[in-house]
Amino acid sequence: MAQQLDQAAGQHEDVMPLLGIDHVEYYVGNARQAAHYYSKAFGFSVTAYSGPETKVRDRASWVLEQGEARLVMTGAMGPESPIARHVLEHGDGVRDVTFRVPDAAHAFEYATGQGARGVLEPIILEDENGKVVRSSIAAYGETLHSFIERDNYSGPFLPGYRSEPAIPDEGPEVGIELIDHIVCNVELGKMNEWAQFYRRVLGFDQLVHFRDDQISSEYTALMSKVMWDGVGRVKLPINEPAPGKKKSQIDEYLEFYRGPGVQHIAMLSKDIIKTVDSLRRRGVRFIRVPATYYEAVRGRIGTIDQSMEDIERLNILADRDEEGYLLQIFTKNVQDRPTVFYEIIDRHGSRGFGLGNFKELFLAIEREQEERGNL
Ligand code: FE2
Repeated sequence: MAQQLDQAAGQHEDVMPLLGIDHVEYYVGNARQAAHYYSKAFGFSVTAYSGPETKVRDRASWVLEQGEARLVMTGAMGPESPIARHVLEHGDGVRDVTFRVPDAAHAFEYATGQGARGVLEPIILEDENGKVVRSSIAAYGETLHSFIERDNYSGPFLPGYRSEPAIPDEGPEVGIELIDHIVCNVELGKMNEWAQFYRRVLGFDQLVHFRDDQISSEYTALMSKVMWDGVGRVKLPINEPAPGKKKSQIDEYLEFYRGPGVQHIAMLSKDIIKTVDSLRRRGVRFIRVPATYYEAVRGRIGTIDQSMEDIERLNILADRDEEGYLLQIFTKNVQDRPTVFYEIIDRHGSRGFGLGNFKELFLAIEREQEERGNL
């Protein structure tokens, strides 16, 4: 297995080397307040800012960092802005899942050579801290993948940004380490097309395929393929709805986001008890599973390092596979529309995605869909 992974990595490095997720940029209605929310509720530090004060006239962007995870909240300065149009259409949502690359010009050339639609030809951005090369291609819906080459840059984020003093924070430490995976929802019948896109354009392999008979409840079903870079720096699961008795959570997303887009971002923690305890105290709200879940999980999960009392008290989910176990939890949606949410995941040997939890999770999500009148 190790040898296979090494070969996959070697092969991957040749065609399209990706160093990891550089950042995730949202387009939002009010970037200043979104930054405050991620700072106060999720424990991110505001580190950089760009806007009129840095001679960027049409937008304001706030950079948030925690561990290696980096989010950017961008808002428009006027109604003529494409950012404002994006927000009108989709609500607050992810515009750009960016990758750090050693060569953004090569990445663009390779990706477009493999059939990706180019959105931004490679450009050099420069200031007194050095230079960054950036290029972008189109992905699902209106989402972009930008390639960021920053080896020759020492500034706070990108040229055009200034460093920003952190918002004072007395809250408990959260301990998010990095972005583990980013999941997109695409339309019925489109999962394979997008899996092929990642294979062709980024040289990805398929890590797992969940069929609809594995991921279903009485009412709804979905199918999912996890595409990855072969080494684990970038994992991008793709969901599509499967026909069910009622409207699936993926259909609800597609309806309210007005098309495909990012559904959830999973953040890795090495101590999920501390992380979830802190997030709850900071006001983050999570999806609840019923107490009966824990009766079943005790038998299924076996011995783990954490106390089951803590797991149950914090409503954390647990799953085990041949490689080990994982602990995970999902937040409620973080904007008005039932679109984007977050996952916190703590891996103890398992490289999976919590298949054993999908059913309980679906039931929990459906209870919330029902409340919204969308089931
Ligand atoms: Fe996930």
